[in-house]
Amino acid sequence: MALSVIIALQLLAIVPLALSVSITDIQGPAFLSPLFGQAVHNVTGVITAVTSDSGFYIQGNRTDDDRVSNGLLVFTESESILSSVSVGDLISLSGRVTEFKESSEPNDLLGTELEDPTNIVVLSSGNTVEPLVLGRDRSPPTDKLSALDVGPDGWLSVPNNVSLVDSVNATVQPDKFGIDFWSSLEGQLVTVPGPVAIDFQNSFGEFWVRGDWPVTGLNSRGGLTITELPDGLPDGNPEVVIIGDPIDDTTNPTTSVGMKFTDITGVVQSHPDIPSATIKPSEDACTITIGDYNVENMAPTSTNLPPVANHIANFLNLPDIMFLQEIQDNDGEVDDGVVDANVTLTTLTDAIASASSSGFQYSFFDIDPVNDQDGGAGGGNIRQAHLFRSEKLKLVPGSPVGGSLNATQPIIRDGKVTLSLNPGRIDPTNSSWDDSRKPLATAWETLNRERFFTVNLHLVAKTGDTAESVQGNARPPVNTDVAKRTSQVEIVAAFVKQLLELDPGASIIVGGDCNEFVQTRSVFAAFDDILTELDVNSNVPPLERYTYVFQQNSQQLDHLFVSSAIAARGTEIQHIHVNNWGPSLATRASDHDPSVAQVKVC
Ligand SMILES: *[C@@H]1O[C@H](CO)[C@@H](O)[C@H](O)[C@H]1NC(C)=O
Ligand SMILES: *[C@@H]1O[C@H](CO)[C@@H](O)[C@H](O)[C@H]1NC(C)=O
Ligand SMILES: *[C@@H]1O[C@H](CO)[C@@H](O)[C@H](O)[C@H]1NC(C)=O
Ligand SMILES: *[C@@H]1O[C@H](CO)[C@@H](O)[C@H](O)[C@H]1NC(C)=O
Ligand SMILES: *[C@@H]1O[C@H](CO)[C@@H](O)[C@H](O)[C@H]1NC(C)=O
Ligand SMILES: *[C@@H]1O[C@H](CO)[C@@H](O)[C@H](O)[C@H]1NC(C)=O
Ligand SMILES: *[C@@H]1O[C@H](CO)[C@@H](O)[C@H](O)[C@H]1NC(C)=O
Repeated sequence: MALSVIIALQLLAIVPLALSVSITDIQGPAFLSPLFGQAVHNVTGVITAVTSDSGFYIQGNRTDDDRVSNGLLVFTESESILSSVSVGDLISLSGRVTEFKESSEPNDLLGTELEDPTNIVVLSSGNTVEPLVLGRDRSPPTDKLSALDVGPDGWLSVPNNVSLVDSVNATVQPDKFGIDFWSSLEGQLVTVPGPVAIDFQNSFGEFWVRGDWPVTGLNSRGGLTITELPDGLPDGNPEVVIIGDPIDDTTNPTTSVGMKFTDITGVVQSHPDIPSATIKPSEDACTITIGDYNVENMAPTSTNLPPVANHIANFLNLPDIMFLQEIQDNDGEVDDGVVDANVTLTTLTDAIASASSSGFQYSFFDIDPVNDQDGGAGGGNIRQAHLFRSEKLKLVPGSPVGGSLNATQPIIRDGKVTLSLNPGRIDPTNSSWDDSRKPLATAWETLNRERFFTVNLHLVAKTGDTAESVQGNARPPVNTDVAKRTSQVEIVAAFVKQLLELDPGASIIVGGDCNEFVQTRSVFAAFDDILTELDVNSNVPPLERYTYVFQQNSQQLDHLFVSSAIAARGTEIQHIHVNNWGPSLATRASDHDPSVAQVKVC
């Protein structure tokens, strides 16, 4: 049996007018019903699915207008009604047309329903409804989500939430826009042939799939990456559908990226190996390997600490410098004023030594935040930190270490550029960093006395935003704290400019967990003239540029940017999918994948 799903997208009114209408009359060609609020009679359709407690779906005859669905949810919680109807019954009934969404999910799209069903007459039983086969009968558009995503960055444009799909109530354009396509199938029985999961399941057990139809952004693992369309706008990957909680109260399988489902019995597990980086530390003093890893709320006792240590030792090949984000203090999420993280970092570096065949021991440093002022899990005091090879690198001496609230500045000392505090934080009292991680800036020296600079970033989080709303009501989708993230990038850009004013040939590496896609170009605009993203400079295929998987998109939140001096010497970067190519959600050590890069700093 093929995987068949009902496309269910997720006010009140009392109008006495009585009408005898078809399901297609009720659905109409726009997002909202032309019969909204009206009482209707003699609606006929064949039942395609019956839920245990919230109604059943009926389907009538199609018209030749692809904009108009011929399926409909009849909402009822009445046990006597639900137990008196069966799949295959041709029924006629009366009811009232409504548009519904859960009040707890205001950003969902309204879905057309028939409420308060009465006069239900079973005209015949045992009828079959041929599902619409996606990819054969109709295929979703592959590029754009909504006509309302106007703005220079398409669906990632700022400002967000300029219009609402439900308020505009446009006529749908299913051949052009994904939300319109899926809306045109609302309530209809469809078959998804050859489904492939493109994310892990969410907390409700739902998961996104692509099917056997044309897709764009397909990466080597089988997921869909956010890439640039020929017109320069970001691909929204609307050619995917979420497999909901099963109507029959069975349970969905757990999924992973690239997992294929057969059309017959269920899951075929296939987990190709996850390759290690081919980039390895070099003997050359000027050639530096850099690892970057958001280690997701790591405390000394975290269960993810040993696997992360294994990743750094055996998948990233012990880079010369690790950029870490989300190192917690010594007692993790106990909120007792402890901010020191030396036990966390010692435990991690010891675990890396145990995991590596050479027993390699990293050195490390960080700057403690002020207690409970940098966001993240309560009491955890997450911060950025560096691990480094002390036999190859040292910090430029002569400057004190900065405190939580001391701003470091580029300065010239003894004819050479350095930082006034080393390491130090950039503009830490600027309100743009409130409740967020301050950047960690460092001046480094190689064995041959050449200098370079790093800035380790963890920009303000994208919590609960674009998340829910990529296919939601607000257009363009809401991107939480995008203004704050933009001004954080501006502050870092101002610091990099100061360095470059003192030495236009300075070797500078800036990056970490930026919590943003480069396709949201407005956020990174301040970097445009001064830094180049390593993925671009290293010619990473655009489809393979991702470090995170969320809903329908493989996406890059973690970036490293370099100054022109480094870019010109040639670079390399690899994203190592130790987590997002894993066999299940439970085996991930972090929600982010690490990356490893090689740059020449002299
Ligand atoms: C519904 O159909 C029945 C049987 O054809 C008919 O008697 C009745 O008048 C119709 N009701 C309406 C409101 O059209
Ligand atoms: C939505 O738009 C359609 C087509 O213009 C119109 O018939 C319908 O009344 C509108 N529905 C609502 C609830 O505004
Ligand atoms: C669909 O059309 C056929 C042929 O006109 C008709 O017999 C049948 O009752 C219609 N089905 C529904 C559900 O209206
Ligand atoms: C979008 O804006 C509307 C006001 O126009 C507001 O009611 C709604 O909550 C906003 N949506 C989101 C997801 O923030
Ligand atoms: C952590 O720092 C404290 C205070 O400086 C020190 O007493 C302790 O020994 C350190 N622990 C480790 C594991 O380095
Ligand atoms: C950091 O700032 C504090 C408070 O202003 C000050 O007392 C301290 O001397 C500063 N530290 C450095 C290294 O500049
Ligand atoms: C924060 O930084 C921004 C960007 O550099 C700047 O415009 C603003 O004045 C700063 N605010 C404070 C309070 O220093």
